[in-house]
Amino acid sequence: MNNKYKRHLVTAALPYANGAVHIGHLAGVYIPADIYTRYLRMRKEDVRFICGSDEHGVPITIKAKENNCTPQEIVDKYHLIIKDSFERLGISFDIYSRTSSETHHKTASAFFKKLYNQGSFIEKESEQYYDVEANHFLADRYIIGTCPKCKAENAYGDQCEQCGSTLSPNELLNPRSTLSGNSPIKKKTSHWYLPLDKYEPWLKEWILEGHKEWKTNVYGQCKSWLDGGLQPRAVSRDLDWGVPVPVEGAQGKVLYVWFDAPIGYISNSIELMPNEWEQWWKSEETKMVHFIGKDNIVFHCIVFPAMLKAYGDGFILPENVPANEFLNLEGDKISTSRNWAVWLHEYLDEFPGKEDVLRYVLCANAPETKDNDFTWKDFQTRNNSELVGIFGNFVNRAVVLTHKYFAGEVPSAVKTTAQDQEVLDQIPLIKKNIENSLESFRFREALKEAMNLARLGNKYLAETEPWKIAKTDMERVASILNTSLKICANLAIAFEPFMPHTTHKLRFIMNMKNSNWEEFGNPDILRAGHKINEASLLFAKVEDNEIEFQMEKLNKTKLANSQEANQNSESEEPTTQTLLPLKDECTYDQFMKMDIRTATVLEAERVPKTDKLLKLTIDTGIDTRTIVSGIAEFYKPKEMVGKQICVLANLAPRKIRGIESNGMILMASEENGKMRIVTPEERLNNGSTIS
Ligand code: 2FM
Ligand code: ZN
Repeated sequence: MNNKYKRHLVTAALPYANGAVHIGHLAGVYIPADIYTRYLRMRKEDVRFICGSDEHGVPITIKAKENNCTPQEIVDKYHLIIKDSFERLGISFDIYSRTSSETHHKTASAFFKKLYNQGSFIEKESEQYYDVEANHFLADRYIIGTCPKCKAENAYGDQCEQCGSTLSPNELLNPRSTLSGNSPIKKKTSHWYLPLDKYEPWLKEWILEGHKEWKTNVYGQCKSWLDGGLQPRAVSRDLDWGVPVPVEGAQGKVLYVWFDAPIGYISNSIELMPNEWEQWWKSEETKMVHFIGKDNIVFHCIVFPAMLKAYGDGFILPENVPANEFLNLEGDKISTSRNWAVWLHEYLDEFPGKEDVLRYVLCANAPETKDNDFTWKDFQTRNNSELVGIFGNFVNRAVVLTHKYFAGEVPSAVKTTAQDQEVLDQIPLIKKNIENSLESFRFREALKEAMNLARLGNKYLAETEPWKIAKTDMERVASILNTSLKICANLAIAFEPFMPHTTHKLRFIMNMKNSNWEEFGNPDILRAGHKINEASLLFAKVEDNEIEFQMEKLNKTKLANSQEANQNSESEEPTTQTLLPLKDECTYDQFMKMDIRTATVLEAERVPKTDKLLKLTIDTGIDTRTIVSGIAEFYKPKEMVGKQICVLANLAPRKIRGIESNGMILMASEENGKMRIVTPEERLNNGSTIS
């Protein structure tokens, strides 16, 4: 470790609270940041890991409008989802706060005020797009149009999602307001600008001369911004959601989200350490590292440092900004608006106990130097071949054999060979490689090296075959298992930054109290006679049907997106729905003859050789019966199991494809054929009557 620093301040980009966190965020930012922080803690460094929700900005207000609710309701909802899912994945923030907090509002406001008072801003009047009908200035994403670079329709005023270009609203061709759809007019408005051009020589010196060691993608992007010449940047917006501009006469103006968000790192540190935060932010003995995605580079390497420099007062600058590229999903760009993503909270619900599998796969495949692709097939292969097949298999064999031959006690190494020593000699080398890789932000390489330790163990057991030798030479078996268990104990340390849930289990099996990095590679890591616990599996296979289920989910998203695209491209004429005419009148008595009950699906399977039929076993509260239902196009058997449904329970039995069907499930059907089951708003006892 570089001992120049006494403290480490690690920040991870504050995610926008207008949606949940997906695998792209995780692979790009949060998993590497967590690995780095956990490693530093294991090295007994003084670390604070800072994050929180970014709760301002136009996308949040747009989402609120779409959902007919307030921006506060949107951020309250997503802040909780994000915070909870990070916790479940084991992202070990010291604080996860939010930019709508009082501390943040105060801090950001005071930050602006100081720059304002000391004359660090320029105030400029300019003409900006304005929606007359909505009576609203059109900041950033309130305006859409054709991208001037790639000609994509619906590029935003600040960015084209198609080609990734950063834009300004004035560059858009055929601009339209997202509020009314009208062409906007131009109207004069006044804003404050940070004159980045003034900081250009200093930034060139600091980054281009002083930080040649930064990742090539980061350094390259900074160089291209700096070579292109910096322009003053507006730090306020005409908007009613955000931190109000703390200046007389600035009604209706808030701080630009990219001005207040990075200050969130400071306000969250203040919340975490109200009395000590300045020691962290204003000392050359602190090493600050920002973990971000590539779209955040300019803000963290140029804008925020210029803000801190302008502020003065001893604020430190980041020592490194190891930004990652983007992760794609099954060959397509991940997109929140198109729902093309694997959402963390859904993954955690759908793969209980497999938190570390996601951590492993996303780190092994992290987009460190170029964009990468996540595929479910690769997820399955890495789990089944690498985690189950190598890591899990090795540990399990070593532990089971120790119980079988030595009653769960670490045997003495009484009959060692050169091979044992060679294997043990590898451990300090692997340790050094992991350290070097982690300290230079090469997390994939570090994980691969940790995995090499498991491979080494697996190969060693396969070659030494203690289960065969046990018939003739127990002393040799003792040595082999002594070596193998030492590898297991080292694995519990090596994997701790990457897979903390797994190492927690492994430490329990190995009966190790904690994992101290110093112990990694210690020849006496396990003493003979040390008792270990029973084996339990570290990993479980991912089955084909689990992958099919995920692929099916993505296919549905694709279908929905293409239907939406078709609808958008069809004529603007409002579509007239052709609903079925009302049926003939029925009497009250006729209706009351029908016995409709709530029931729960116990089992579901496809009826062979049909596309539409499912055979369901249901519990009606009165009996368990079979129903054949034509819903296979809309529901997979697995989806139906456990669902509560409504059944016409006294319908005369009918034979369908040779199966007796006893009742009918109530379905709602659209005229286009789409069907959904009808279900009580809240789960009721089976057999409840419906009338
Ligand atoms: O890109 C984003 O998701 C931003 N919300 C990141 C903000 S990072 C920091 F500046 F707060
Ligand atoms: Zn474009």
